Amino acid sequence: MTEAIVSMKNISYAYEQKTVLDHIDFEIPQGAFMGLVGPNGGGKTTLIKLLLGLMKPDDGSILLFNQPIEKFKERNKIGFVSQKANSFNRGFPATVFEVVSTGLTAKVGYFKFFNKKHKTKVLEALKQVDMLDYAYENIGNLSGGQQQRVFIARALVNDPELLILDEPTVGVDSRNVRRFYDLLHHLHENKNITLMLVTHDTGAMTEHATDIVCLNKTLHFHGKPEEYSSLTEGVLSDLYGHPINVVAHNH
Ligand SMILES: Nc1ncnc2c1ncn2[C@@H]1O[C@H](COP(=O)(O)OP(=O)(O)O)[C@@H](O)[C@H]1O
Ligand SMILES: [Mg+2]
Repeated sequence: MTEAIVSMKNISYAYEQKTVLDHIDFEIPQGAFMGLVGPNGGGKTTLIKLLLGLMKPDDGSILLFNQPIEKFKERNKIGFVSQKANSFNRGFPATVFEVVSTGLTAKVGYFKFFNKKHKTKVLEALKQVDMLDYAYENIGNLSGGQQQRVFIARALVNDPELLILDEPTVGVDSRNVRRFYDLLHHLHENKNITLMLVTHDTGAMTEHATDIVCLNKTLHFHGKPEEYSSLTEGVLSDLYGHPINVVAHNH
C-alpha cells in the first residue's frame, strides 16, 4: 500500500457559525497527483489552510509525513502556491531573485549574510521553471505566466516532497496554461514530487491527475479520473449547483 503523506481524519471547520468542512476524511498518497475540485465556496482553500497549519480544525486530527501536525517541524517538505499569488501587486519593488528567496525556510533574514548555498538554491529553483534569465528583473515587469513560474520556484526552493497549488491557472492565458501543466508533469514524473492541485479545469485534471477529490463541505467524490469523467451530468450539476460540462482528455 502506498504511504499517505497527508492524512486528515474527521476534520470539521466553521467560520463563526458557518460550517465549511463537515467531518472530512482525506489522504494524499505519496507519489499522487491529486486534483481537488468543487464549486466556489466548497471549502478547498480552507482545507489547504488547515493542512498547512495556518488554522486549527474545530474537530479531527491531521498527520503530516506520519507526524501529528502539532509536532511537525519539517516545513521545507511542503511547498505551497497560494490562490493570491497571481494577484500580486505589480508595483512591488522586488527582484525575481528576492521573491524566490523569501520561500527559503532556513533562517536567512533579509539583512543577514546570504550564503552561497542559499543563492545556489534560488538559482536552481529558477532554472527548474525556466526563469533563470529573469533572476534580476523586477517581478512587476513580468507577464502573468512568468510571475506564476516565479511563485512556483518560490515553492520549490526548499526541495519539497509535496507541492500544493491553489487555483494557479486563474488569469493565465491558454499557452501558458499548457506550459504550466508540462512543468507539473515534469515535477511529478522526474522529480518525484507529490502534487495537489486545486482547479476548475476538469479537462486538464482528467488528463493529468492520478486521483480526483471533489469537495463541497463534505467529500462528494474520491476516485480515478476515468471514474470522475464517467459521472453523469446530473450528478455533477447537483454537486456544483449549476450545469457542468466535463470534457475528458484521456489519451
Ligand atoms: N476568513 C473567512 N471568514 C468567514 N468566512 C470565510 C472565510 N474564508 C472563507 N470563508 C467562507 O467559507 C466558505 C469556503 O471558502 P473557501 O475555503 O475559500 O472555498 P473554496 O476555496 O472552495 O472556494 C465560503 O463560503 C467562504 O465565503
Ligand atoms: Mg479557494
